[in-house]
Amino acid sequence: MSEHRILVTEPIPETVIDFLSTLGRVDVGVKGEFNNEDHLADVLPKYDALLCMLSTPVTEKVLTNASKLKIVANFAVGYNNIDVAAADHLKIKVANTPDVLTEACGDFALALLMATTRRFNEAEKYLREGHFKSWEPMGFLGMELREKTLGIVGMGRIGQAFAHRARAFGMKIAYHNRNRISPEIEHELGADFFDDLKELVSKSDVLSLNCPLTDETHHLIDEETLDLMQEHAILINISRGPVVDEAALAKALHSKKIAGAGLDVYEFEPKVHPDLLTAPNCTLLPHIASATHETREAIGMLAATAIKQVLQGVADKNITNLVTSKS
Ligand code: DGY
Repeated sequence: MSEHRILVTEPIPETVIDFLSTLGRVDVGVKGEFNNEDHLADVLPKYDALLCMLSTPVTEKVLTNASKLKIVANFAVGYNNIDVAAADHLKIKVANTPDVLTEACGDFALALLMATTRRFNEAEKYLREGHFKSWEPMGFLGMELREKTLGIVGMGRIGQAFAHRARAFGMKIAYHNRNRISPEIEHELGADFFDDLKELVSKSDVLSLNCPLTDETHHLIDEETLDLMQEHAILINISRGPVVDEAALAKALHSKKIAGAGLDVYEFEPKVHPDLLTAPNCTLLPHIASATHETREAIGMLAATAIKQVLQGVADKNITNLVTSKS
């Protein structure tokens, strides 16, 4: 039997590469190398397994020529970069990395909320530019969290982890989700369900996006939704950029229709809308919600384990993190 060949599109923790090396020959790309569809389509036919990033375009074209490929394991929980329907059709398995990044993303969402409600980036810039001459009683006033409503759009694992943390700061939790969560979890989080997204948007002091990117959630937050937000309200997005119409958001920030935004993801990532770069009170981070040593290693091991299981012929029902177009 010939040796398995595995392509890892970018450098990832060494422990994961060592683990994959027990399964066959592993080739590791350099940063950004496989964000190019044509390049990936050219090399992929040599490989049995692909461990890729959320920036890797695993399109139908890429998959169609990859006749040896058995599995695509995404180094992320979101997998909108993969044409899962095409993979299903070609009988290529797809895996993602649920659970292992929940806590890191919950921490990060809270950090982004606090940085934005307390205007950290504006204030830091002010200091770095040498404007801090004396303590100012009216300088950089922000929003306190106690008794404020955190509206969460997408109450999955990460939304719930965020809600738990926000509760500890005295926030009230409201949410909108495709399906209502269990009464036990609603009770534990003190979370109010809003069937109507618009109502949730208009009631939230902080609106947080924690939903996957799908046809239904594309531009869920557009000019019309932003108009419903309160003037002092803040938008947080750690889900996927295209959930927000970025041009509309930049306009809302510049016209002070809303008080701020904390963003970790972008509509045309890695490009950032130029009007967001100049918008007041806008915390902009380079998609780092899951970026902790512990989590990135756990993400890698979960993706690599799915590769091992598929290459060794383990039945789908015994692999916890496979996804299909019906997931
Ligand atoms: C994911 O894994 O989908 C997240 O975007 C990482 O931050």
